[in-house]
Amino acid sequence: MMRKLAAGNWKMNGTRESLDALQAIASAHPEPGVDILICPPATLLLQAAALSADSPLSIGAQDCHSAASGAHTGDISAPMIADAGAQAVIVGHSERRLDHHETDADVRAKAEAAHAAGLLAIICLGETLAERDAGSTLDVIGAQLEGSTPDSGDSANTVIAYEPVWAIGTGKVPDIAQIAEVHDFIRDRLTARFGSTASDIRLLYGGSVKPANAAEIFAVRNVDGALVGGASLNAADFSPIIAALE
Ligand code: G3P
Repeated sequence: MMRKLAAGNWKMNGTRESLDALQAIASAHPEPGVDILICPPATLLLQAAALSADSPLSIGAQDCHSAASGAHTGDISAPMIADAGAQAVIVGHSERRLDHHETDADVRAKAEAAHAAGLLAIICLGETLAERDAGSTLDVIGAQLEGSTPDSGDSANTVIAYEPVWAIGTGKVPDIAQIAEVHDFIRDRLTARFGSTASDIRLLYGGSVKPANAAEIFAVRNVDGALVGGASLNAADFSPIIAALE
């Protein structure tokens, strides 16, 4: 059984002094019973990886280009992320799907590049409020899952993060039954496609996870951890979420 995963997505937040949080989190969890991943901005990857080398923390990036190198000004490739010492990369976050018009095919290519570079790909899925209100959540999630997950996916190189777009940064969280429905659905679809190995592909919930609601969310079947935004920026908030997962 794969270890549960507490992942922090710092988004476009953080400078070098922010990396003090890594030491605070590592000190609070010297021998964690779960995997802990921090995804800082790309400018901090090299230093964060160096600072975390002898700690229980892993470091990840927040995006990668699908090409290994070339004329892509401003982009960062999966091999570069690995070269910086990071072990994972988030792909297809809803903020990038929106801001950068990333399609399921774009996300799948990014995940394939991550796999080829030896990185763990955290593939993000999520419906908008309009899609949920229209009753099309499972149709949307099913299409995103099928289109964004490469055939090379397995429990060692792929994590799926369900992040309802309307819960990100809003303080709103789906009902427990709604989280359970989507996570069960994702598990069923992965099993239908990949067979029994899909039972070990970790499914994270993301969207306004806080110390106050983490334990209830983690008690849901097929929730194997969280992808946390705002509450991961400081140890005081992220440490209790890690503790709730252990
Ligand atoms: O990737 C995680 C992020 O989208 C969730 O953000 O601030 O709602 O925890 P937040």
